[in-house]
Amino acid sequence: MTIQIIKTTPFDDQKPGTSGLRKSVKHFKKPDYLQTFVQAIFNTLDTIQGSTLILGGDGRYFNREAIQIILRMAAAAGFGRVIVGQGGILSTPAASNLIRQYQALGGIILSASHNAGGPEGDFGIKFNGANGGPAPESMTEAMFAAAKQIHEYHIVPLNPIPVDKLGTYQLSGMQVEVVDSVSAYLALMETLFDFDKIAALLTSDHFKMRFDAMHAVTGPYGHRILEERLGAPVDTVIQGEPLADFGGGHPDPNQTHAHELMAMLYARNSDIDFGAASDGDGDRNMILGKRFFVTPSDSLAILAANARLIPGYKEGIAGIARSMPTSQAPDRVAAKLGIPCFETPTGWKFFGNLLDAGKITLCGEESFGTGSDHVREKDGLWAVLFWLNLLAEKQDSVENIVRKHWAEYGRNYYSRHDYEAIDMQDANALVDALQAQLSGLAGKSFGALSVRAADNFTYTDPVDGSVSKNQGIRILFTDGSRIIFRLSGTGTQGATLRVYLEKYEADVSKHDQDVQDALADLLAIVQTVARIEHFTGREAADVVT
Ligand code: G1P
Ligand code: ZN
Repeated sequence: MTIQIIKTTPFDDQKPGTSGLRKSVKHFKKPDYLQTFVQAIFNTLDTIQGSTLILGGDGRYFNREAIQIILRMAAAAGFGRVIVGQGGILSTPAASNLIRQYQALGGIILSASHNAGGPEGDFGIKFNGANGGPAPESMTEAMFAAAKQIHEYHIVPLNPIPVDKLGTYQLSGMQVEVVDSVSAYLALMETLFDFDKIAALLTSDHFKMRFDAMHAVTGPYGHRILEERLGAPVDTVIQGEPLADFGGGHPDPNQTHAHELMAMLYARNSDIDFGAASDGDGDRNMILGKRFFVTPSDSLAILAANARLIPGYKEGIAGIARSMPTSQAPDRVAAKLGIPCFETPTGWKFFGNLLDAGKITLCGEESFGTGSDHVREKDGLWAVLFWLNLLAEKQDSVENIVRKHWAEYGRNYYSRHDYEAIDMQDANALVDALQAQLSGLAGKSFGALSVRAADNFTYTDPVDGSVSKNQGIRILFTDGSRIIFRLSGTGTQGATLRVYLEKYEADVSKHDQDVQDALADLLAIVQTVARIEHFTGREAADVVT
């Protein structure tokens, strides 16, 4: 086998963020930029020889070229076999599933998740380990360190693999298997959910749903699973054709970016009962009822409270985990079920140890991420099927299910305000100023609200004892309300400030307030303590979810 050794100069900006290395396409197309990071991944793995790698991406611009480069580098590194999704396509949860199913050493997933795509958009690459989950911080740090030292990378000569055609190919002694992107994932879903019941619901005259694939990776998954396998009418999946630039949209399933779906569900005379959307790489989900939005935090709480109704979870769940900024609604369910609820830093990688150790079954984040121990990633379509199974069991509307949940547990009013692409220095100055106030905040009152504690969140992993510091500034009030500030770790332009607001309301007669009205007191406190306009010149958030 000929291995070409290509001399290169190291890069010092290849630090993976919340979810892999994400940069603009232009940045990724710099000579040897992708190759250096791939070499950095391989250099941090020590049992490559003869092992299996899973490879696929969300189909965004540059996906195809990157797949061929990575195949050639995998052959040079000594992998015995690479399993590639057809057309280079794998949703993030489907890739996680394949890693586990093939007992692979890991997988490379090409995605910038919900970030825009196309030549002017973003690209990303992440490595998931043998458990199917995102590389832990220790590993991403090692990749970053390796990238800074790389003076050469190894690659075999150009020999394009026809990734659109299912089959087994040879590449310089390495086997490349091109597999159907959906089949194994669909088979896994069939083990968890009552497909007969869901099919009966989807084919009945009284129920209509729309699934918005946002021209991203879940198009083929939605068509195959919802329409072909479960028999939903063919217009169920909208924007189902994956496009390299996602049709110019932002493949982020929230009230702002999934506007086509929102318009359908919120139309005055809407006849659609259930709406759902997923993001660029298929790990996020948004759940809607008729003129009704389910917050991702509430969704996690409701799935947990009702898990026993679902075949895959009928024995009950061991525990729940939520990221720190996610609302405390799941905590109330865990308390009632008598199971633990863990609070982790933002990012799915922090759930991996808890899932592997069997301490939790369900987990989720406020950022439209929900999942379980069936894979080691959040899973958009899984959440949609879970909700469909629940709707089929309960024969009730989404809104009623949520309202009954609030009546039983109380309502956690919740919203996130994002200030995007602000100047990095301004953002750091704001955070520094907040940090400087923290020690003086406890005991202070703002109107009716008193601060119980204020800190910067530190997490100690209960499984391996690793400590992660500076995971978000928290202002905690005596009535359970919270304000949290963090800087995003997935953006590619300047800084994004995220402000998370939460207020608990037990009184069912007060469950009908407008969310932003209910949180207005907290937003006023944000203005006082963080002085966002003073530091950034911004009067209001760009995206409110
Ligand atoms: C965002 C979300 C976070 C999620 C991540 C990857 O990260 O807030 O919950 O895990 O995307 O989907 P952030 O940009 O806030 O660092
Ligand atoms: Zn995603």
